Amino acid sequence: MLISIIVPTYNEAGNVSSIHAGLEAALLGETWELIVVDDDSPDGTADAVRKLAGQYGNVRCIQRLQERGLCSAVQWGVQAAHGDIVVVMDGDLQHDPDLIPPMLRELRNGCDIASGSRFLSGRPIEGLTSNLRNRLSVYGNKLINLYLGVQLTDPLTGFFATSRILFLRSIPRMQADGFKIFFDLIYHNRRAAIKELPFDFRARKHGESKLQLNVLWLLLCDMISKLSGSLIPPRLVSFVGVGLIGSTVHFSFLYASLAAGAVFWLAQTIATVTAMVFNFTFNNILTYSADRLRGERFYKGLLLYSFIASFGIVANVSSAQLTYDHFKAHTFLAASVGIVIDVIWRFVVSNRLIWGQSSILKRTR
Ligand code: GDD
Ligand code: MN
Repeated sequence: MLISIIVPTYNEAGNVSSIHAGLEAALLGETWELIVVDDDSPDGTADAVRKLAGQYGNVRCIQRLQERGLCSAVQWGVQAAHGDIVVVMDGDLQHDPDLIPPMLRELRNGCDIASGSRFLSGRPIEGLTSNLRNRLSVYGNKLINLYLGVQLTDPLTGFFATSRILFLRSIPRMQADGFKIFFDLIYHNRRAAIKELPFDFRARKHGESKLQLNVLWLLLCDMISKLSGSLIPPRLVSFVGVGLIGSTVHFSFLYASLAAGAVFWLAQTIATVTAMVFNFTFNNILTYSADRLRGERFYKGLLLYSFIASFGIVANVSSAQLTYDHFKAHTFLAASVGIVIDVIWRFVVSNRLIWGQSSILKRTR
């Protein structure tokens, strides 16, 4: 039985040969292949993998030029896999390949999904460096178990094995955005037999972790999206969430400026511009973290966003006025219609033009 090891990478050039060596030692007597899915890392990870493939016949590289993100990288790997069993692990040596044989044993004994848990051994965790991250993990896990109705010690692990068939069947329903591939897999396979195995999460040797605070936010948005039956995409949830916080920024600046003696139109302008910069900045960090604009592209994006938003404001006010006239001066209804149209306009155009694959602010290399 062929085992496919799928490793998503971003700037892991220094780790690829050690991963292969570790797998070779751990998987003695098994037939296996290594599929590295790299998002065109600037450190030359893909070249390092191809060099390795020249030495070993069981290595493949998928170099993605136009896609970004951990989840979709893993999904691509699964779709390219030849093995009956797929194992997903990180490319930074934090996942101990010696756990793979016990995982395979569990699968062969009839369980559907075997996962490596960082919290089962009871020992302190080397790889979770900051106190904050530790605490985030604890609360995140509680929330997820509650949500999924499962009892897992590590529902956010990035180290697990399952059958290719089960994974493939789940992909059309899964999210391609985000970091939480295991959570998503479990969500769509809640009745699967899941077995957790303890392992020690090692400290990173090279490179740096790409997982930051925004991960919990994205997870929350994903959960809300799923509650809507995936009718509202996680990105829109995030976009609206940022907008809601942005409106409190708007009102704070409005009242503060008025209190400082500004006339209304000036106060409203200050508040509008501040809220716009706030919304753009936080959407850039939270909603579109994988496509985050930096440097010059950030400022171009901000300009474009403001330009787009101004059309939204016109559409907002005119449709609100129409509604107001039609529904006999129903203020709340009219305002809500205007806001909904404005948000959808900004969201759709942002998605198409500012962030992501079809962005007109193309990365120049
Ligand atoms: N292709 C691709 N694209 N790979 C990526 C991307 C991306 O956008 N972002 C990260 N990776 C790769 C990294 O190169 C690494 O091999 C693996 O995905 C995990 O990324 P890390 O940046 O090392 O994540 P971490 O160690 O902070 O997070 C670990 O713990 C999380 C739970 O707390 C991972 O195991 C996650 O999968 C897990 O959810
Ligand atoms: Mn890591």
